[in-house]
Amino acid sequence: MAHTETVPADMQAAVLTGFGGPEALELQRVPVPVPGPGEVLVRVAAAAMNNTDIWTRQGAYGLPGRPDALAGWRGPIEFPRIQGGDISGTVVRPGDDVVGDWVGRRVLVDPAIYDGLGDDANPIGLLGSEADGGFAEYVVARADQIHDVSSSPLTDEQLACLPIAYGTAMGMLERGRLRDRETTLVTGASGGVGLAAVQLAAARGAHVVALTTPDKTAAILDAGAAVVVHRDPDPTTTAAAIAAAVARAAPDGLDAVIDVVGGPLLPAVLDQVRDGGRWVIAGAVGGAGIELDLRRLYLHTISLVGSSMHTRPHFRRLVDDAVTGVIQPHVAHRFSLEAIHAAQEAFARSDYVGKIVLTLHRQPD
Ligand SMILES: NC(=O)c1ccc[n+]([C@@H]2O[C@H](COP(=O)([O-])OP(=O)(O)OC[C@H]3O[C@@H](n4cnc5c(N)ncnc54)[C@H](OP(=O)(O)O)[C@@H]3O)[C@@H](O)[C@H]2O)c1
Repeated sequence: MAHTETVPADMQAAVLTGFGGPEALELQRVPVPVPGPGEVLVRVAAAAMNNTDIWTRQGAYGLPGRPDALAGWRGPIEFPRIQGGDISGTVVRPGDDVVGDWVGRRVLVDPAIYDGLGDDANPIGLLGSEADGGFAEYVVARADQIHDVSSSPLTDEQLACLPIAYGTAMGMLERGRLRDRETTLVTGASGGVGLAAVQLAAARGAHVVALTTPDKTAAILDAGAAVVVHRDPDPTTTAAAIAAAVARAAPDGLDAVIDVVGGPLLPAVLDQVRDGGRWVIAGAVGGAGIELDLRRLYLHTISLVGSSMHTRPHFRRLVDDAVTGVIQPHVAHRFSLEAIHAAQEAFARSDYVGKIVLTLHRQPD
């Protein structure tokens, strides 16, 4: 029979009490959740932060036809909610019907809530928004969505960087069918998803042109970009100037664009995409509404691909990369759970490269 370890009755958690500012996020003691059939209880070692934590707190996603409505990324959020979708930790207790001796194993949690059981199921929810996540000492996860990473050379904090940012980047590369020796533009290259995309694209042998701010150039080249194109946030570089710089950096054109920025950049740079190329979009930090000449798309058989998170096969490929250590997530700053408000302030300043991580249980040295 699987062994178990002593689990306290209650735990510290950052609880989102409703949509709002930082005051909506409260440190509370709450009961440790109980794993149901097919679930396990994971003691959280580290939990990384993402834009979605901030946007969900603010209710900033809008609704169809009501862009200013308070909503999470899939619509309504049930409160109270424990956020945090990026979780590494150790399994401490199995629920009923869990196959295998998972207790004591170091795991990475696939935080997606899928619309089916197969490999082509789509993510329609996320731990931390549609179910409780890892900004707490313990979290419940589905046993078929935990991955043994005991043999990974990555630290728990590095592992926690992977699910959302690297999972999203992996989903973009896979949906964009990016192959070795192809040329790709990665936007928002110093951000969580962008940096992951630079690393993952370079690891599969692509020629990476990265769009970033000048002061982050060295870090982006270190991450594997072949060439960097600059945007100067103050004054804002025009999309046309960025397009001209991309044309100089990739004179033979782009096979794929891995884009989290969108906005005016998309129609401006689209002409740099080769016939049969792919533009994969997963974010809109540069603006959600665009004006697009559709002829530029169909006359060149360019695919415009929306990409949300990852699929199960994408996540398995990510776990393989974590176990072999071919990617090295960069932890920019680490905070305790109690310092979550300071962590969110640091996240909002966006003056770092890599990920911000909450460390809950440190590995023994
Ligand atoms: N679809 C999904 O499944 C999914 C999953 C995760 C995230 N996302 C979305 O993807 C986007 C990026 O997420 P993230 O976690 O990587 O965010 P992040 O860490 O904040 O990085 C965004 C990066 O974009 C660049 N940037 C910021 N403002 C910009 C502007 N006005 N114009 C051009 N570039 C700008 C900056 O990079 P540089 O300084 O290097 O240019 C910044 O570091 C967000 O919109 C997020 O909601 C989507």
